[in-house]
Amino acid sequence: MIKTAVFPVAGLGSRFLPATKAIPKEMLVVIDKPLIQYAVEEAKAAGIEKFIFITSQGKEAIEDHFDSHSALEAVLQARGKIDDLEKIRSIKIPEGQALFIRQHEPLGLGHVVWCARHYIQEEAFALLLADDLIQAKSPCLKQMVEAYHEDDGNMVAVVDVPKNEVNRYGVLDIARQFGAKVASKGVVEKPDPAKATSTTAIIGRYILRTSIFEPLGLKKQGSGGEIQLTDALQSSLSAGVSLTGFCFQGDRYDCGTKVGWLQANLALAASDPEIRPYLESVFAVIN
Ligand code: G1P
Repeated sequence: MIKTAVFPVAGLGSRFLPATKAIPKEMLVVIDKPLIQYAVEEAKAAGIEKFIFITSQGKEAIEDHFDSHSALEAVLQARGKIDDLEKIRSIKIPEGQALFIRQHEPLGLGHVVWCARHYIQEEAFALLLADDLIQAKSPCLKQMVEAYHEDDGNMVAVVDVPKNEVNRYGVLDIARQFGAKVASKGVVEKPDPAKATSTTAIIGRYILRTSIFEPLGLKKQGSGGEIQLTDALQSSLSAGVSLTGFCFQGDRYDCGTKVGWLQANLALAASDPEIRPYLESVFAVIN
């Protein structure tokens, strides 16, 4: 049973400056919702009940976003704006189910995950990176939770990427594929494209065994001088914990880049019947 999810939201978001000077990058909007809301909704749909956010200075807007806003709710109620009221209320994370933990220094994704170590009671938990927005009939994490078996060990969502882009990802060394799952015999963070063993890249959805905290606790620096989650996955694999790639059904947009963020906006606009006609007229002008 996967009931806890960790959301790293401590990053500086320097790729989106100046937009992210005073607002967290996780609050960047795609159509009408901030990125972090897409990730939290995906987690809720997968049955997650405890939401752990690893934050840093200047990220208070995220906590506010999932809180009550009684003044706003009262105004919407008085004006009879029931749809808007419902939207605002449905965002909330119920009291006692959200936890905000500060990471003091940006030491890497592995360190972010390690910061949650005292607050996870179950054997396995989910990790969602809000940068990766996934549009799917069945939400990606739900697909993973349904497919997950204890023997899978640590499970990562994977996509096939162009060879020249493998140096942006954790990349699997594949032992065999069975259905939607890929058994790995190794994993490397941001490999040189010339040396990469595959083009099967990890994207921001994980189911992790709590045993991952052992290698993370060693705080070894890896690629870019950071404490890398990928290195801990490799250490766990060497210690006998399987590493399973999961090929999900759906489209993933890397909203950590301007192009990916734009693609996400266009794709979601195209699938919204109210907005699509306007999108078509814009493209008619461009063409
Ligand atoms: C992180 C992970 C990497 C993974 C990627 C997915 O990298 O370290 O293994 O492939 O997320 O988005 P980052 O994007 O933080 O550089």
